[in-house]
Amino acid sequence: MSIRFHISTFGCQMNDYDSAKIAQILAPMGYEQADDPSDADLLLINTCSIREKAERKVYSLLGRFKGLKRRNPSLIIGVGGCVAQQEGEALLHKVDCLDFVFGTHAIFDLPEILSEVGKNGRRKAYTDFTYRFDPPMESAALETAPAKDPSVKSLVTIMRGCDNFCTFCVVPYTRGHEVSRPSGHILEEAAGLARAGAKEITLLGQNVNSYRSDEGKTGFVDLLQHVNRIRELERIRFTTSHPKDLSSELIHAFGSLEKLCPHIHLPVQSGSDAILKRMNRRYTRNEYLEKIQRLRSVCPDISITTDLIVGFPGETDHDFEATLELMRRVRFDGAYSFKYSDRPPAKATRFEGKVPEELKSERLQRLQALQNRITLERNQRFTHRDVRVLVECQGRRRPSQVSGRTGGNQVVNFPGDRSLTGRIVSVRVEEALLHSLRGRLQSSG
Ligand code: 5AD
Ligand code: SF4
Repeated sequence: MSIRFHISTFGCQMNDYDSAKIAQILAPMGYEQADDPSDADLLLINTCSIREKAERKVYSLLGRFKGLKRRNPSLIIGVGGCVAQQEGEALLHKVDCLDFVFGTHAIFDLPEILSEVGKNGRRKAYTDFTYRFDPPMESAALETAPAKDPSVKSLVTIMRGCDNFCTFCVVPYTRGHEVSRPSGHILEEAAGLARAGAKEITLLGQNVNSYRSDEGKTGFVDLLQHVNRIRELERIRFTTSHPKDLSSELIHAFGSLEKLCPHIHLPVQSGSDAILKRMNRRYTRNEYLEKIQRLRSVCPDISITTDLIVGFPGETDHDFEATLELMRRVRFDGAYSFKYSDRPPAKATRFEGKVPEELKSERLQRLQALQNRITLERNQRFTHRDVRVLVECQGRRRPSQVSGRTGGNQVVNFPGDRSLTGRIVSVRVEEALLHSLRGRLQSSG
């Protein structure tokens, strides 16, 4: 009989990628994926600790899993990802139904970890930062192996960790120092995914603009140029960029690399210079605005999305107004916005001037109302226009429809058959909504 596992994934695309790798690592060991946790023999949680809310979800899921273990005492439960990395052993003391904890660098060690788990009733945390894209031979093969049945859109990690130490952020502590993956590994994985049917690849890293590998010989734009030459691939995206490292070379790539999608996610976090300084972002509001202008002069229709934090310690009404003003000036296509939350050991945890929760909520609401208005107006620029859409899947709520995305990453829904999946088609936009566009198929050439 086969052994079944279930993995619950929280957080960013990096975790999505890691969970897919975990499934790939477990498959040759005879593990089959179970859709329902109550059918599984092994339960894994890939966790996120970027904000308090994300971390709370992990503990509430563990509460549910505890009930499953009561009914099935041979069930094995393991927690990985950022919460695991941060808490280590402590998590085993806090959560008694847990069998093991594995850190962000331990996923390729899972075969050995699983063979040790439960021996002599020992519970253990595997959270050393030893994994550095320099794995032993057997895991090197696993690392570059593409998923067997990739989706139309696939992810490829190009670097791990972060050295920026923004004062609000826990990532440098949970993911360790920035390490770039050798370009050969990335290209092998990307080409394999493309041959197996992926049409779009997103290159992932906390700060892709500072990618440098192969003894310094390959920078991020070189890597993009290599990926652009993979014949079967139609589209390339990347995330996340840091404004301070966005080079002229990369800005120009938006005008010259035909497969690079006209979209950039460029987290600004705040529109106030005083706050940016205290966040240790190392750019000013004007420098940010200037980069936006240059991106738009190279690629006038580029979609620009961002991340914003409200209520950073010491944020005054005046600072907040500067953020709103920056939003009006840039006119982002979309924004993810968050209330600041303390994330020890990040430095801002110790800053004075904490903003009361109600004020944070009020600011968040105002900011989101403004952004929603701008997003809708930006989406309306597509009405009556034809857009090129990569079809991703059948409509979830309406099976007679299909859903895909434009190069600028806008979701497009239109009547169509599932057989269009994986094709790039032309769609006439009839209606622009806040979160999507609706249209009609023009041609499927
Ligand atoms: N509080 C609120 N938002 C945060 N982010 C990161 N750390 C925090 C924090 N402590 C947000 C940033 C980042 C995004 C991934 O999460 O906006 O860009
Ligand atoms: Fe966190 Fe800043 Fe690194 Fe992004 S660049 S992961 S916000 S420390």
